[in-house]
Amino acid sequence: MSRLTSFLVVLSLFAFAPLCLAGKKYGGYLYPQFYQHSCPKVEEIVRSVVAKAVAKEARMAASLLRLEFHDCFVKGCDASSLLDSSGVLVSEKRSNPNRNSARGFEVLDEIKSAVEKACPHTVSCADILALAARDSTVLTGGPNWEVPLGRRDSRSASLSGSNNDIPAPNNTFQTILTKFKRQGLDIVDLVALSGSHTIGSSRCTSFRQRLYNQSGNGLPDMTLDQSYAAQLKTRCPRSGGDQTLFFLDPPSPTKFDTSYFKNLVAYKGLLNSDEVLFTMNAESRKLVKLYAENQELFFQHFAQSMIKMSSISPLTGSRGEIRRICRRVNNKPLFKCISS
Ligand code: HEM
Ligand SMILES: *[C@@H]1O[C@H](CO)[C@@H](O)[C@H](O)[C@H]1NC(C)=O
Ligand SMILES: *[C@@H]1O[C@H](CO)[C@@H](O)[C@H](O)[C@H]1NC(C)=O
Repeated sequence: MSRLTSFLVVLSLFAFAPLCLAGKKYGGYLYPQFYQHSCPKVEEIVRSVVAKAVAKEARMAASLLRLEFHDCFVKGCDASSLLDSSGVLVSEKRSNPNRNSARGFEVLDEIKSAVEKACPHTVSCADILALAARDSTVLTGGPNWEVPLGRRDSRSASLSGSNNDIPAPNNTFQTILTKFKRQGLDIVDLVALSGSHTIGSSRCTSFRQRLYNQSGNGLPDMTLDQSYAAQLKTRCPRSGGDQTLFFLDPPSPTKFDTSYFKNLVAYKGLLNSDEVLFTMNAESRKLVKLYAENQELFFQHFAQSMIKMSSISPLTGSRGEIRRICRRVNNKPLFKCISS
């Protein structure tokens, strides 16, 4: 290197170091006022785009809420779920829980581009998703809560994490509870958050096993109401119709209410993972009965559990990055922070 080049390199290290360190100042925890000065309008922008999307298609509220779950259960709430495949990065969109059912990515693109316009390179995709999940809940009639903010975005995804860490609809009660506990969530969080299935839809392929061959002995799931099962079978045959959609809560598919829990008590839960909350464990059965009769308690627990789930191992401080586009990681910066 010439003397001039080395001089410039040294100079630029000094020039960039303070910027790098600034990111560490509030590192380590999330709080609702994180963007108070840097992007005071972010909550308003997210809410308005989500409201528009849900007005156009009611199911979008459910899809955005589910995305937050699938994001947070895979190496924390870091927007890893939003990345497309690119180069060596394999998208979580290809995983069993996501393939042919995770949706809402275009809405997040639209929110991100509106937020970037107002506050360039400031708000993470992970925070946008956490806000969109809260707004989706409120817009469908559910509880409101303050969303702690300050998450940063991952530079990687985990296909195996998505396949293994997100519970499957035919997992046993114990497996599902274990997967929640691994995330620091408990049985109250499991039952309250499953209440998300008060909105949205499921494909036939996610519950067919219950209708025809629950345990490999050729018999249906005996804990499923027979007339409901007969009704489901007409549109979810033994083979074919895999992608046909069914409401998770037929009595009120777009209303965030206690109807989901009432269904479980009546043996009319759509997914096996829903019904087992009532049939396989005394503690969760008690919670299902409580929530079925007490909307206030369900809403209170749901809000608390969403805050808990949305705080699973976030990237904070100078870890991760603020993506410019939620579908892909930023290009590597010219100067890497010495401190990170
Ligand atoms: C407890 C374990 C859980 C299992 C096994 C599970 C499984 C599923 C399955 C299989 C579907 C339907 C996918 C399809 O076939 O199209 C679904 C939909 C959905 N899930 Fe879950 N889920 C669970 C917990 C959660 C949690 C914790 C949330 C949110 C906090 C959530 C929110 C939703 C929503 C809103 C939908 C509807 C999505 C749409 O209509 O686009 N689920 N879930
Ligand atoms: C659960 O469903 C998956 C996918 O359909 C299937 O491969 C698996 O064998 C099922 N597991 C059990 C225990 O039935
Ligand atoms: C039920 O599933 C088992 C194993 O998964 C299979 O061997 C059996 O043939 C199936 N029975 C029917 C009636 O489909």
